Amino acid sequence: MEIGIIGAGTVGTVLAQTFARGENQIKLSRHSGAASLAPRRAEFATNVTFVEVAEALQQPMVIIAVPFEQAPAVLRQVADYQQRLVVDVTNQFTADFKKIKTAPLTGSEVIAAAATNARVIKAFNTLPPEFMTGQVNGDGRRVLFYAGDDVAAKKEFAVLVRPLNFRPVNLGKLRHGGSVMQVGGGLGNTHFVQIEE
Ligand SMILES: NC(=O)c1ccc[n+]([C@@H]2O[C@H](COP(=O)([O-])OP(=O)(O)OC[C@H]3O[C@@H](n4cnc5c(N)ncnc54)[C@H](OP(=O)(O)O)[C@@H]3O)[C@@H](O)[C@H]2O)c1
Repeated sequence: MEIGIIGAGTVGTVLAQTFARGENQIKLSRHSGAASLAPRRAEFATNVTFVEVAEALQQPMVIIAVPFEQAPAVLRQVADYQQRLVVDVTNQFTADFKKIKTAPLTGSEVIAAAATNARVIKAFNTLPPEFMTGQVNGDGRRVLFYAGDDVAAKKEFAVLVRPLNFRPVNLGKLRHGGSVMQVGGGLGNTHFVQIEE
């Protein structure tokens, strides 16, 4: 799958490396521009290319890996996502780690409101970056909680991450699943391994 990643910080970087292990074409972008990533070429496999944010936002699946406060404005650069997948990995923190309240909406519902006509999945935000690789010591799969309002989109997402050694666990819609996945919801910083299928 062609995957655009917005943000090449801690999370964007590891997710580019993770999805590059599958049959995917990764278009990685950052605010500072594609050229600024050139010195980091050796960190990524050849199926990761560096593009501008506008191009990454046009891919069939878009991973939004920027700070929560920036995410809505970034996503609004596209007028109509035409049912493409947008994966929200954000946590609701300010730059100085104060919690951002969005009630009664969940953070992912705020993201979904900014990504017009996208099928939004909340995922990865509960994992520390080092566990976003899917790899585990020994046997088993890394449990990956996810939520979303579109059932077909969630199936597509699960099919994409299973070969990367994740065990996707569907927590329901962005309202309910999103609320337990987001900051303060109880699942933060969880990194379960499932041994048996
Ligand atoms: N780090 C964690 O432990 C962790 C775990 C789970 C979820 N998360 C969530 O994942 C997201 C990313 O976190 P991070 O730790 O990777 O942050 P980070 O290292 O600070 O990287 C943020 C990235 O976002 C880019 N960015 C910021 N504003 C942008 C804009 N307007 N347009 C395009 N790109 C923009 C930055 O571009 P430049 O590089 O050009 O500045 C940078 O590459 C956050 O929402 C965070 O809450 C983080």
